[in-house]
Formats: sequence, C-alpha cells, structure tokens
Amino acid sequence: MDNAHIGKYRLAFLAGLVLVGTAACSKPSEQSDSSGAESGVGTPAPTPAAATDSYAALAADAGQVEAGKKLFSNCAVCHSVDPATPSPAGPQLIAVVGRKIGGAAGFPYSQALANADGTWTPEKLDAFLKDPMSAYPGTSMAFGGLAKETDRKAMIAYLASIPAK
Ligand code: HEC
Repeated sequence: MDNAHIGKYRLAFLAGLVLVGTAACSKPSEQSDSSGAESGVGTPAPTPAAATDSYAALAADAGQVEAGKKLFSNCAVCHSVDPATPSPAGPQLIAVVGRKIGGAAGFPYSQALANADGTWTPEKLDAFLKDPMSAYPGTSMAFGGLAKETDRKAMIAYLASIPAK
C-alpha cells in the first residue's frame, strides 16, 4: 500500500520536473554591469577577508561562480543542484558547502563519506575535487578529479552560491 503511494508520488514529482525544466529554459539572461572603472587609486588593499567569510566571499565572486557553473557540466551527469530534480547518480549538491559530509538525506553513501566527520569546508572540497579517491579512499564517486586549482576554486565558488531551499 505504501509502495503504491510512493509510486504515485514519484510520478507526480517527475511530471513536475518537466514543468520546472521548461520554465528553467526561459530564464532571462543576467545583465553584466561594468564595475571597477574608477578604482585605480594606488592604495593597497586593506586586511584580507577573515577565514569565516570565505564561503560568502567565494559565492559573491560572480566571475568565479559563472566559470564554476560552466564546469559543472562535468558533474551534472551525476549531480543535480535543482531541488526539484533528483540527482541521477550522486547526492544533491544544494548548499553542500558547509553541509555535513555525507549528509544528504536518503543517499546511500559509501562508508568513506558516511563515516567521515565534519562539514564540507572549501579546503576539504578542494582536496576531494582534486582527487576523490585519494581524499576519501573508498568513495563511490567515480570521477577523476579537477586537476586545475583555478577550476576547483571556480567550482567551489559555484557550489557556495547555491543556497538551501
Ligand atoms: C560518475 C558520477 C559522478 C560525477 C561525474 C561526479 N560525482 Fe560527485 N558524487 C558522486 C557520488 C556517487 C557521490 C557519493 C560518494 C560516496 O558516497 O562516496 C558523490 C559525492 C560528491 C560530493 C559529496 C557530497 C556529500 O553530500 O557529502 C560532492 C561535494 C561532489 N560529489 C561534487 C562533485 C562535483 C563538483 C563534480 C564535478 C566536478 C562531481 N561531484 C562529479 C558521483 C559523481
């Protein structure tokens, strides 16, 4: 009985996805504003942002976020960042920066991530995305890694820009 209900729910859910997908296609393109035109004064930058600001700082860097979004085509075969779309083969990555490692409800994680302590900091994500198997031996994420540091930084900025919904 319960299974039948879940089945129906799933169908409704999937039908909803089609609608959401259609709507997403007609998303208006963002306007890029010109900035920094008058910032050429020779004053050195003040104190660097505190470590605790790093998620916000990463997510606020529109250029990095945009670059990371493009790179996400490497990940989208397995991961969804849309709450209405189930991930094809991995956990949801919505608000994953700062989330408990192995913490997406209902996802059957490997022991490597299920038993890992702590939350995803930019540093831990960097190590994981560089070489998943080395960072978390036994992980079931079958992905070779993003070799370039600049790519990983952009990817983390993009992930940090995806809010919880
Ligand atoms: C072939 C499928 C696949 C690809 C491609 C892939 N992943 Fe994953 N990813 C997974 C799976 C499966 C897991 C769960 C791993 C585990 O349980 O050990 C995972 C886990 C993760 C996690 C940990 C999430 C959590 O809840 O702890 C992050 C972050 C992540 N992936 C990011 C990425 C990013 C960013 C990319 C692209 C650069 C990517 N993945 C590419 C399948 C994939």
